[in-house]
Amino acid sequence: MKKPMRVAVTGAAGQIGYSLLFRIASGEMLGKDQPVILQLLEIPDEKAQKALKGVMMELDDCAFPLLQSMVGTSDANVAFKDVDVALLVGARPRGPGMERKDLLEANGAIFVPQGKAIGEVASRDVKVLVVGNPANTNALIAMKAAKGLKPSQFTAMMRLDHNRALTQVAQKTGKAVTDVKKMSIWGNHSATQYPDVFHAEVAGKNAAQTINDQAWIEGTFIPTVQKRGAAIIDARGLSSAASAANAAIDHVRDWVLGSSEWVSMGVPSDGSYGIPEGIIFGYPCTTANGQYTIVKGIEHNDFAKAKIAATQKELEEERAAIAHLLK
Ligand code: NAI
Repeated sequence: MKKPMRVAVTGAAGQIGYSLLFRIASGEMLGKDQPVILQLLEIPDEKAQKALKGVMMELDDCAFPLLQSMVGTSDANVAFKDVDVALLVGARPRGPGMERKDLLEANGAIFVPQGKAIGEVASRDVKVLVVGNPANTNALIAMKAAKGLKPSQFTAMMRLDHNRALTQVAQKTGKAVTDVKKMSIWGNHSATQYPDVFHAEVAGKNAAQTINDQAWIEGTFIPTVQKRGAAIIDARGLSSAASAANAAIDHVRDWVLGSSEWVSMGVPSDGSYGIPEGIIFGYPCTTANGQYTIVKGIEHNDFAKAKIAATQKELEEERAAIAHLLK
């Protein structure tokens, strides 16, 4: 029997938590032979803690063979103690009349102490995925607050956008999603992100050439992927949760266990493609041996360069708004 891996999930009583925890416990994220210990964080609020207890009761009732034990807590130092993987899902949603700057600030108040706690008590090899929005900048805040860990251990979720893009292209070309390869989502997990089909492939051929419809790429594909979150809220009356949880599982599984495909991940920029260091930027990555590597050597056309510049600018503005939290 393998040594159990400890997985922290914040916002564990929320919508995404409810779609995520059962799949982690069943082995879909870390492998069907990998026991797990779940360390679940929620706010101290009585209602949230009670809801968390309810979710833990249901996890008990699944009798998952791989779920070795679990703890529910409102103390970040308990939740992150010795964890191998931390999924930071809990975040402050935008309230009525709240400006983007206020939202960034309110989330800073969550991600500074959580990053600090991760730096102090998590495994030295912890892998952190930030799902809670604004995910890229929250990941940057947590990364800067975590002392003694490498920046490369902090990532933000672009995988939902990536999976959305795969399906749009598969449906447009009448192929299976598994025929679509080398998809990439560049920049921020926001409406400025740039989903790139010019370097993607469908059944071994260039995707943009196969689609052969620039108007669809510019006027339908890109805005559909960029604004899919809002479209789900409009249709469902609630934000995407099951698909977000699914993307989190995909992101961590491929990071830990490796993948033969390109995956999109928000990672600290190393200067690749002229993106300055010090922001968490969506790039195509390959994964192997528990590490990711940014795909190098992609040549962008002027259209793509302009889109990437816009999403870079937004991330730089977000960073400027919370610069005082990064000291
Ligand atoms: P939700 O509101 O249902 O659940 C969030 C949970 O987090 C709540 O139970 C809340 O009590 C908890 N929470 C808040 N602050 C916390 C803290 N400091 N520590 C621990 N727990 C805390 O929201 P949902 O639908 O689960 O979404 C969570 C986040 O994920 C949101 O920020 C949402 O915008 C984001 N999201 C990100 C996506 C991505 O692709 N990166 C996709 C979909 C959602």
